[in-house]
Amino acid sequence: MTEQTAQNANVKLRISNMTKRYSNGDGVSDIDLDVREGEIVTLLGPSGCGKSTILRTIGGFIGVDKGEILIDGKPVQNLPPEKRPTAMVFQSYNLWPHMTIFDNLAFGLQIKKVPKKEIAARIDKMLHLVHMEGHEKKYPTQLSGGQQQRIAIARALLLEPSVLLLDEPFSALDAKIRAQMREELKRIQQALKITVVFVTHDQEEAMALSDRIVVMNKGVIEQIGGPTEIYDCPKTRYVASFIGEMNFLPGANGTEIAVRPEDVWLDDAMEPEMSAVIRTIMPLGHYTKVGLEMGEHFLRAYVPKTDAAGLRVNDSVALTFHKKYVYNQNGGLQQ
Ligand SMILES: Nc1ncnc2c1ncn2[C@@H]1O[C@H](COP(=O)(O)OP(=O)(O)OP(=O)(O)O)[C@@H](O)[C@H]1O
Ligand SMILES: [Mg+2]
Repeated sequence: MTEQTAQNANVKLRISNMTKRYSNGDGVSDIDLDVREGEIVTLLGPSGCGKSTILRTIGGFIGVDKGEILIDGKPVQNLPPEKRPTAMVFQSYNLWPHMTIFDNLAFGLQIKKVPKKEIAARIDKMLHLVHMEGHEKKYPTQLSGGQQQRIAIARALLLEPSVLLLDEPFSALDAKIRAQMREELKRIQQALKITVVFVTHDQEEAMALSDRIVVMNKGVIEQIGGPTEIYDCPKTRYVASFIGEMNFLPGANGTEIAVRPEDVWLDDAMEPEMSAVIRTIMPLGHYTKVGLEMGEHFLRAYVPKTDAAGLRVNDSVALTFHKKYVYNQNGGLQQ
């Protein structure tokens, strides 16, 4: 097997050269993305960058202008949603309010003519998986938001899709439940080894959940990579500013220097690159956030708790940048 076919072997979803523009010109362009079997890939970017547009083209809710969408090697871009091996969960209003939880879950299976006994057994197993046993007879409004979304995910999973599509499924939930749902989704995804495309504008959610992240900007993909790769090697200034925290300083010839707060080291270097004055000290548990004034610029540094003990406001300190990035005028990574 050549390397190319080895890589292709477990591609579950392939989007190639796909463009979808709405009549007003908004949309996405030249999208290329492979999602491998059992992978959870996140589309990440600010509001309006085209995340839902991509997800809807995969699910068949909107057509494409150009390009191809393959699932299990077969083109699907001309099939209606119900003929595609996908299932989609939306942000809210997922469940049918006039039906019990059991009926909500059973509906899709009944349409597929799954025998009654098997439907009950499958629902039982699925409710167990999403930790919702005993809620079958309730109506959606009798459940909390988090519980409703768990049922919505269960309903999608019962259809045994090749690819599960989740469009900001947790965004209506409060922060604590949201973090919990993230962990649950990861657990379920790993248990079933299902392929997932997840949409969020929350970079922390993307970092926590994903095998790979697709960072989007104004309808195009800026970078695709694992969470660590994206964090450690942001290929553009945009990605550098969107993922994690970053200090930006003007460099030579119109370039910009970017440094992560944890890479700003306060130390007693013999030949310090720079010096700065401490303006703020905020102890945040295991690390301390230190605000630094360097000439006309402000920088943030994250200092381990033990190293921060001796720091005082208005002290002058030597700085070194443990790691830095230089972006050129076009926002591309120079070094
Ligand atoms: N049906 C539509 N008709 C015209 N323009 C649309 C339509 N749907 C979305 N758009 C526009 O296309 C762009 C991408 O929209 P999309 O919904 O994909 O963004 P998004 O990344 O999902 O944003 P959000 O995080 O707010 O959900 C936006 O500028 C949006 O206004
Ligand atoms: Mg959206």
